[in-house]
Amino acid sequence: MYSKEFEASLKAVEAARAANVAYEPARMTAKEKEDLLAEYHPDYKKSEFAKLRIGPNKGESVPHELCEMLEAHSRIKPEDVDLTSPAYDVDVLIIGGGGAGASAAIEADNAGAKTMIVTKLRIGDANTMMAEGGIQAADKPNDSPAIHFLDAYGGGHFAAKRELLAKLVTEAPEAIQWLNNLGVEFDKAPDGTMITTHGGGTSRKRMHAAKDYSGAEIMRTLRDEVLNRGIPVIDFTSAIELILDERGRCAGAVLMNMETKELMVARAKTVIIATGGAGRMHYQGFPTSNHYGATADGLVLGYRVGAKLLYADTLQYHPTGAAYPEQIFGALVTEKVRSLGAKLVNRDGKVFMHPLETRDVSAASIIRECTDRDEGVDTGNGKAVWLDTPMIEMIGGEGTIEKRIPAMMRMFEKYNIDIRREPILVYPTLHYQNGGLDINLDGSTTNVENLYVAGEAVGGIHGRNRLMGNSLLDVIVFGRNAGIHAAEKSKDVTVGELTLEHINRYDAERADAGIETNAVSPKLLPDYTRKKSEARLDRIRKGNINNHGTYY
Ligand code: FUM
Repeated sequence: MYSKEFEASLKAVEAARAANVAYEPARMTAKEKEDLLAEYHPDYKKSEFAKLRIGPNKGESVPHELCEMLEAHSRIKPEDVDLTSPAYDVDVLIIGGGGAGASAAIEADNAGAKTMIVTKLRIGDANTMMAEGGIQAADKPNDSPAIHFLDAYGGGHFAAKRELLAKLVTEAPEAIQWLNNLGVEFDKAPDGTMITTHGGGTSRKRMHAAKDYSGAEIMRTLRDEVLNRGIPVIDFTSAIELILDERGRCAGAVLMNMETKELMVARAKTVIIATGGAGRMHYQGFPTSNHYGATADGLVLGYRVGAKLLYADTLQYHPTGAAYPEQIFGALVTEKVRSLGAKLVNRDGKVFMHPLETRDVSAASIIRECTDRDEGVDTGNGKAVWLDTPMIEMIGGEGTIEKRIPAMMRMFEKYNIDIRREPILVYPTLHYQNGGLDINLDGSTTNVENLYVAGEAVGGIHGRNRLMGNSLLDVIVFGRNAGIHAAEKSKDVTVGELTLEHINRYDAERADAGIETNAVSPKLLPDYTRKKSEARLDRIRKGNINNHGTYY
């Protein structure tokens, strides 16, 4: 099945394994990291970004694909929508049924607000469900929120909004307890204490997990809680435009039934955007670890009504997406594999970096190995490096893989790869949107009243790079926070006259800027039709895009 070159490389990895397990690779210096990122990280590839010509972040760079969506036409014309008889009238409207939306709904419900979730797929169809490795919280005696802050602040290149990051780390231990009390089955030692591990860039073991399906376990629990409380969930229905009132305050959303395309109006005293990430935008042609619905919708909805973006030019490429076999190309291979001892090894069996550098550094290092250094393995679908999983059993003992990362084992088992005995091939995959809508400490957007944001659609919590396990944490901390504050605020709101006039204003701004486009947004679902994939292939042939995305 494997080519000769492939077989030879596998043998080299096996031969070097015992020495590689004992080998302690050095950490890179700050200067080495800086140079590496500038040369190899996709965020630094200027040709892949465009300057926004309209909207509150006019003049700032964002990926081409996002720029197209932010400058696109609305899916509706204001005159097509009857705003006078809303189908729904609530205190708190939550757009998105992932971890942040569910957490917000639970807290808004606790506060007595009439709460409703609208989601374009089903509750739980979200990136939260896909998260594997764990959730960070400094709750061990050798750790503290201050140390957690320093790790995350440095890992994010000192760019995080400090007050948001401080809230994240300070409330983390309580977030774990909240989840534990709701019924999340965290990994625990026989005495009941939580088992914690390292992640990239952490100076203490503070990753709490439910094996390697932590997100699925958390989402299962949150979904049950929402449904058991009877909080209404309108599924297979997307929010396609926000509605303002005559004073410019957010006052609801236009909803579209995904199947019938019927339009409905939801009037709300406050709105929370919890729409998640953008992996299905396939920036720079990368495959993704993300959920099918991750198309940056919340950024578009918020931007069109004037909400500001922060760091929308920075994305996270998870270092270890599956690169082989093709059927799981881009799927997440959790960082926990490296936390448990597996090292990254090149074609010749050489460990080329410390396995737990921060994610942006690790991704850039793998890209360098596969490009300029030409030390990658040809998978038949691009180059990749080895992640030497059998090391885990050598370090932790037989049975460690099955016990700690059973989902990984099963994912590869389906393709006759036994990760206990064979290494796997990995390459960076588009994983997380570091940037998003700019918020205040209470989760409200900085410039649109009664509009709140939580989860991956927020920008600024993590700065320009996020550490593993801080996203599951932020969906809980900032989801709950937005739910509490949006519910509280709704008590003082009397909704004025509903209007979609912002669409006309945006159209005028687009025309004034001389932008000609047929694109409409939000995107809602990825487009995997042949036409799109041929356009992508054309860009690859012209050499201004990498070769890891050819299948979409
Ligand atoms: O590698 C992982 O398990 C991913 C975790 C995260 O993005 O936080």
